[in-house]
Amino acid sequence: MVVEVSTKILVIGGIGYVGKFIVEASVKAGHPTFALVRESTLSNPLKSSIVQNFNTLGVNVILGDIYDHQSLVKIIKEVDVVISTVSFMQLFDQYKIIDAIKEAGNIKRFFPSEFGNDVDRTHIVNEGKVMFDNKVKIRRMIEAEGIPYTYVVANFLNRHFLSNLMGIASPSDPVIILGDGNIKSTFNTEESVAAFTIKTIDDPRTLNKTLFIRPHANTLSYNDLISLWEKKNSKTLKRIYVLEEPVLKLIQESPYPLNMGLSICLTTFVKGDHTNYEIEPSFGFEASELYPDVKYTTVEDYIQENHDCSPFYLNNLISIKNVQHFHT
Ligand SMILES: *[C@@H]1O[C@H](CO)[C@@H](O)[C@H](O)[C@H]1NC(C)=O
Repeated sequence: MVVEVSTKILVIGGIGYVGKFIVEASVKAGHPTFALVRESTLSNPLKSSIVQNFNTLGVNVILGDIYDHQSLVKIIKEVDVVISTVSFMQLFDQYKIIDAIKEAGNIKRFFPSEFGNDVDRTHIVNEGKVMFDNKVKIRRMIEAEGIPYTYVVANFLNRHFLSNLMGIASPSDPVIILGDGNIKSTFNTEESVAAFTIKTIDDPRTLNKTLFIRPHANTLSYNDLISLWEKKNSKTLKRIYVLEEPVLKLIQESPYPLNMGLSICLTTFVKGDHTNYEIEPSFGFEASELYPDVKYTTVEDYIQENHDCSPFYLNNLISIKNVQHFHT
């Protein structure tokens, strides 16, 4: 009798924004799941409730961090796949994970912290480029060290990009749009991204390739997005279009991390970096085509079902005052 052994997964950064969804998807898919958690996390009430949820789900919570090489090697030796979801501030420090994977020598696949735009196919400038370049450096390091990998390009995540983060705009305010609003971008729920990521861990087709989460139904223009929101809420928003040049100037004048957020939005909504290239089998595959059985939430359903969903993300980054200044 053949006993199927389920792939063991370690998530580094599991408490973070994307990480907690991946940990949950992994354990729910039946994988023995390990989450590396800093000891200081336990004294933070908000984060310790996530750890409690992990314990309830049957996740093996391991105390430690990526800066303790010996214990990192030890835990990596216990698993088959490592998924990093460390925050953008720790991107370059992932060389510590690469070192440990090299020494452990048993890892079948490494997923570095990506889950955004494709950093090898981008027009990004300024502070966003600094962040993207750290992801690029880690990609090249993984390839040079001969570590098997999959990069997950998840594009924009709904809880972040379809949100009025600071609650600063209301339906009586004009909605800010970059460019002409007709360039298509992709918006996915964190749950869908986690489900597709876990689905691919053993798939030979995505080994040493990129998994692009770019479902047709979730790829739409900002104008279309606003129209869907207007239909659901029976409201009409005044639309203000901001062109590339004033935004470039604003990026130069803005503090970090605002300049980073603006440059990512500019390259996506104006340059079309989510959709301005074809996905070729030589470098990757589209997730909903590979895994038609994964039920993902469409943008339209997300807007219908989420009262917090908002088209005002750019209003968080660019004030209306600034926009009026652009127009004078
Ligand atoms: C993937 O990369 C690893 C490390 O370079 C290599 O050993 C393996 O043969 C590659 N597999 C495929 C299918 O490309």
